[in-house]
Amino acid sequence: MDDHLQLKKGDALYFEEDALFILDQRALPVEESYIEARTPEEVAEAICTLGVRGAMAIGVAAAYGVFLGALVASKGKVGDVAQGAHRAARIMKASRPTARNLFWAVERMEDEIRNFEGGSSKDILDALRRAADSVARETVCQNKKLVEVGIEILPGDCLALTHCNSGALASIRYGTALSILIEAHRRGRRVHVFVDETRPLLQGSRLTAWELARNGVPHTLICDSAAAILMKSGEINIVITGADRIALNGDTANKVGTYGLAVLARHHGLPFYIAAPSSTIDLSCPKGENIPIEERDQEEVKIFRGERVAPDETPARNPAFDVTEAELISGIITEKGVIRAPYDENLKRMFSSS
Ligand code: MRU
Repeated sequence: MDDHLQLKKGDALYFEEDALFILDQRALPVEESYIEARTPEEVAEAICTLGVRGAMAIGVAAAYGVFLGALVASKGKVGDVAQGAHRAARIMKASRPTARNLFWAVERMEDEIRNFEGGSSKDILDALRRAADSVARETVCQNKKLVEVGIEILPGDCLALTHCNSGALASIRYGTALSILIEAHRRGRRVHVFVDETRPLLQGSRLTAWELARNGVPHTLICDSAAAILMKSGEINIVITGADRIALNGDTANKVGTYGLAVLARHHGLPFYIAAPSSTIDLSCPKGENIPIEERDQEEVKIFRGERVAPDETPARNPAFDVTEAELISGIITEKGVIRAPYDENLKRMFSSS
């Protein structure tokens, strides 16, 4: 593991002078600005409103949010330090329900609070800061390895379709599916990425296209509904996305629309891969129907960049994620290798071998 990882300006987030600085993803691609969060409530607000988003990035943000809870308490604002951290952990867990990484990170912080409970405030604070830094380091380390694994499965002439954003913005330094494609291009492989715009919040056009453009990767933006015609005309030869939570049987939650792509890929005989580190896998969740799916405000569907695009009285549904059944997934790219069916057996084996 990289023990010297120093997050800094330019990363999706970094911690400096008692504040978490979060690259405001709501403002991209127009503006690169940072949210300065000094309390757990401010971190939770950034998570809920997608100032920071993507499974791993919200996990790391939540870990620092718990540390901030302890820090604020140590300055005498809210109870004792351990209580402040426990309270912050509850706030973080209530922010967004689907991404396993958020709970993975907060549970790591809670273990650390319990280990040091009863100790001095300084001991608890030091331990929590170390734990948050180690959540960030592990995230970088897992994804760096995952990218190496993923490059191996790409077709020689890679015409990839991806959905939502699974690059460095969705994590720290290295993302998952998108980072595999970016790194393959960097190493001289022929890669063209088709980018679903990803309605309603446009993570594809605002964030994925931004990352691809900055890295000089050939890419084409498409409306979500154009995926089928491009698959049929042979312009795509692989579909690859990230994940927010993977159940023990391999069923996988990711940005709404992913399931439809997997069905289309099967119909057109194309491989459909998920890329996610082990911190996204939830062995306590037997299957997809047990994954909590976030339902967001219907106004996100009815208002497009500040303009109303549906009658006020028209009701809308806005599930933020959907679940792709394991049988539609060709393989799950993890930092420990590509996991294939039977997923329950192979996922358990992967964890027991660590
Ligand atoms: O609502 P978002 O933007 O947080 O959704 C993010 C995704 O669905 C990503 O594809 C997912 O987190 C995997 S990449 C870390």
